[in-house]
Amino acid sequence: GDIFGKRKNSMGLNMNIESQSAEFFEKVRSFQNNQWQGGPIVNGKLVETGQRVGVTSPQQSTHQIGTIGWGDADLAAEALTIANGAQTRWSDTDVNVRAEALEKLADLLEENLHELIALCTLEAGKTLQDGIDEVREAVDFCRYYAIQARELMGKGDKMPGPTGETNELFTQGRGTFICISPWNFPLAIFIGQVTAALATGNSVIAKPAEQTGLIAYRAVQLALEAGVPGDVLQFLPGKGAEIGAYLVSQEEIGGVCFTGSTNTAQAINRALAARTGALVPLIAETGGQNAMLIDSTALPEQAVTDIADSAFKSAGQRCSALRVLYVQDDIADRIIELLKGAMQELLVGDPIEYKTDVGPVIDGIAKTNLEQHIIDIQHVGKLIAEAPMPDFTNNGTFVAPTAIEIDSISQLVRENFGPILHIIRFKRENLDAVIDDINNTGFGLTFGIHSRNESFAYDVAKRIKAGNVYINRNQVGAVVGVQPFGGRGLSGTGPKAGGPHYLYAFMTEKTFTDNI
Ligand code: NAD
Ligand code: ALA
Repeated sequence: GDIFGKRKNSMGLNMNIESQSAEFFEKVRSFQNNQWQGGPIVNGKLVETGQRVGVTSPQQSTHQIGTIGWGDADLAAEALTIANGAQTRWSDTDVNVRAEALEKLADLLEENLHELIALCTLEAGKTLQDGIDEVREAVDFCRYYAIQARELMGKGDKMPGPTGETNELFTQGRGTFICISPWNFPLAIFIGQVTAALATGNSVIAKPAEQTGLIAYRAVQLALEAGVPGDVLQFLPGKGAEIGAYLVSQEEIGGVCFTGSTNTAQAINRALAARTGALVPLIAETGGQNAMLIDSTALPEQAVTDIADSAFKSAGQRCSALRVLYVQDDIADRIIELLKGAMQELLVGDPIEYKTDVGPVIDGIAKTNLEQHIIDIQHVGKLIAEAPMPDFTNNGTFVAPTAIEIDSISQLVRENFGPILHIIRFKRENLDAVIDDINNTGFGLTFGIHSRNESFAYDVAKRIKAGNVYINRNQVGAVVGVQPFGGRGLSGTGPKAGGPHYLYAFMTEKTFTDNI
């Protein structure tokens, strides 16, 4: 039988079949010189705004790929009124209708795969493989939440008991969800938030990251084509500090779903607390100071492959990425030697080339901050290795994958969102202090461990306060419906995206007690 029951994950593409991959590359490349034009979509229509912004590629700042119009607070107010007006109707719509729209959206995303992957590389600087994975995750979110919504919202739950009455529990959408997303998963997280809110009967105002409005614009066009009503889903690209801050301060919202930095999540929390009006939930998924621990029984070659993947793939711009590697002292020299070799082999370069391992970071600000961190941290640490940089850089925002040995995780004062790995040697007798240090960062997103001692690995994994722990593999790339994803503490409020409890956070419940 089908071990996944009703659900199937998207299978992605097999790039080893040459006839398939050649056609794939050609189709993606056909968008290389495309000019996309996007902007706010309110009540199903593209709105021309006074502010139109040029969009350039992280790998080539002179290459403009299109323009996008930014909305303002007045437009946000209009969008919110329309979304609120539509919400009860949408929540009362048969859940199967909502789920079918999401399933149709999944199909349309797959039909537009090449354009969306091209946008991932051109707008966000993602490698082709990351682009393939990104679309696949977005498709999985649509299908997974459609199935979940049918299961959880299709009918009321009878609540038998001693009262002698008929008691039944129903779920409904909460209102208009403000969905605010980051640039590092410009399609998958954008779609994940929006589809979870829509599936559960909420209207949505989607606010993409400033850097990646075009791919989000295309996703909203496809959602409308798939049957999501134009008054239910509004799209408002623009400045987070203006339009995002405005939306989360409004009385008439049903909830906020946010993915991004911890600082912004805390600012949103304060804005929500300062409002009058309904008390609404904040679902926040934020950053990490993610660690991996290698004990002396680990297989060095396997560990090093997983270290490099976790720290440097996606240019380290995953919230799940490895930042701090703890290596037991008796195996540390071997691991570091192999890691130096692996870093020499990393191909940093144009993300549109399939062979590229590491593309650029998102923009000049990110590059400057990361390079400054590399300089600063060397005052207390020692440079271990830097991957070779490409000969050409085309004014692209490339940062060399870098490994630095430090003494303590407390030397890292903030999240460094890029391809920088910190290495700390530890002695087995200090394991308790290592676990305390990791937990005391206050973050709790991912944790990796490499060990062939099963009871040791499980014991450490249990004691680390992280949302996702990975044993003997890399610590990135959680799969929808299989590895529910999200952290705790400074890393987020939960619930876990792509997990069986996620949709509950977007619903409100209503108990009917019937004495007729
Ligand atoms: P960010 O916090 O700067 O921006 C995220 C979003 O918030 C953007 O859309 C931005 O416009 C908006 N925003 C900014 N200020 C706002 C305000 N005052 N009010 C409302 N909205 C505002 O983060 P980023 O740089 O775009 O994304 C990278 C961050 O995202 C990293 O910290 C990363 O760890 C985190 N992240 C977390 C997860 C997760 O699932 N835990 C996944 C991906 C990324
Ligand atoms: N869900 C993404 C990962 O697991 C962020 O890497």
